[in-house]
Amino acid sequence: MLFTTILAALAAAPALALPTIEAKGAKFFTSDGDQWYIKGVAYQLTPDDPLAQGEQCQLDASLMKTLGANAIRVYHVDPEADHDACMSAFSDAGIYVFLDLDTFSTYILPDNPSWNDTQLKAYGQVMDVFHNYDNVAGFFVGNEVLTTGANSIAAPYVKAAARDMKAYRDSKGYRNIPIGYSAADIASLRPNLQNYLACGSNTSESLDFFSLNAYEWCGTSTFETSGYSQLQKNATDYNIPIFFSETGCNQPMPRNFGDQSAILGPDMADTWSGAIVYEWIQEANEYGLISYNPSFDTDPANFAVSGTPTPRSPDFDNLKSQWATLSPTGFKAADYKPSLTPPPCPSFTSALWEVNRDVALPTLNQKFDASVSSAIKSGSGAVPTATGTGGSAVAESIGGSSPSSSGSSSSSSSAQQVIGANSLFYTILSLVFLW
Ligand SMILES: *[C@@H]1O[C@H](CO)[C@@H](O)[C@H](O)[C@H]1NC(C)=O
Ligand SMILES: *[C@@H]1O[C@H](CO)[C@@H](O)[C@H](O)[C@H]1NC(C)=O
Ligand SMILES: *[C@@H]1O[C@H](CO)[C@@H](O)[C@H](O)[C@H]1NC(C)=O
Repeated sequence: MLFTTILAALAAAPALALPTIEAKGAKFFTSDGDQWYIKGVAYQLTPDDPLAQGEQCQLDASLMKTLGANAIRVYHVDPEADHDACMSAFSDAGIYVFLDLDTFSTYILPDNPSWNDTQLKAYGQVMDVFHNYDNVAGFFVGNEVLTTGANSIAAPYVKAAARDMKAYRDSKGYRNIPIGYSAADIASLRPNLQNYLACGSNTSESLDFFSLNAYEWCGTSTFETSGYSQLQKNATDYNIPIFFSETGCNQPMPRNFGDQSAILGPDMADTWSGAIVYEWIQEANEYGLISYNPSFDTDPANFAVSGTPTPRSPDFDNLKSQWATLSPTGFKAADYKPSLTPPPCPSFTSALWEVNRDVALPTLNQKFDASVSSAIKSGSGAVPTATGTGGSAVAESIGGSSPSSSGSSSSSSSAQQVIGANSLFYTILSLVFLW
């Protein structure tokens, strides 16, 4: 009886021995006290849930280990599915997981943003089923919600989501799993958004990390010409961890992943915590490091979503060679005394950043208050300062014309297409799901 109880307990407990990941100051550390740098791969074989098929995860995790990866990013899961087999397959291979908490029907919409009970419950459900896996490295409350200045009205809702998911995590007694956001790389928007998500003296209301989907470094580029030197300038004094949640421009092919030596080398490793390369599977957008069906490689519309992963040449080996030479050690947690302070909250700038600096975050279920926006817009000095009162939501909606998002980033057109294609894909899917 006792024996079977113990057996049952052993079977139920995640059989994992990886040290857990925590954010401290502007860096990630393992519970062993070492600074942790991400060498990750985006992993979403099917829209539903790539972490529900244990055997497939086993095959992929083994090959990722030979690649030198230590993390994956997963965009969508089904909280009802069983994830034990996949999570242990990745853990056994030394691979951590960054996971988006949103689902197709609950993500924060850019033009009509909300943060409500339904969303909180859905995000919480994902956290409930994943928090106990030792190899969960972080949760995202959103991916590329904002892509234009007009979308900045959604930023307070993203921040409110992080506030409430952090509070939920703590109220449940879950470990301190970092909670952050994955941003589109729009040059006109990025610095304000990056600073906004970290600003303010109350850390219960700011994010635990910020990450960027950036496709600026294409072909044989350099730290200066790629635009990475600007990313570095904007991040030098950032007080929370920052990393690339997607990277890997694929024009021109093949990819040599030269940016990894900037990110994980002397140029950026003092500031950035690594990168997640987009992506594992070869699909129509042709970013794959592997293919499950190499004979269909020349016909991307016919890609397979499961099977034995076969490295695509030369991209897979190029990334493997890069990572093999890059092992920044950084700080020991005990020697690291964070001293950076949060950045100032950005001020309202019409068409660029339409969020008032002084207005409180929306409370759960609170809708945007239009009267606040007209006061802000007039610059009349009648700006409500609802600080601390849990008062008005921020922002303003621009009727009709949206500011140009061109001239935005120096990223390649292919990256813009990818972002567009992904969003369209998710929009169609979410419509199908809603329907
Ligand atoms: C909550 O937000 C979701 C996602 O945007 C939306 O679909 C839903 O209608 C909202 N629910 C309420 C009650 O506003
Ligand atoms: C910090 O923010 C949290 C969440 O909004 C709030 O409950 C708390 O009262 C705030 N603390 C201070 C000192 O304002
Ligand atoms: C970000 O970098 C750009 C280019 O160097 C600079 O113009 C801008 O002022 C920086 N913004 C912030 C918020 O640091």
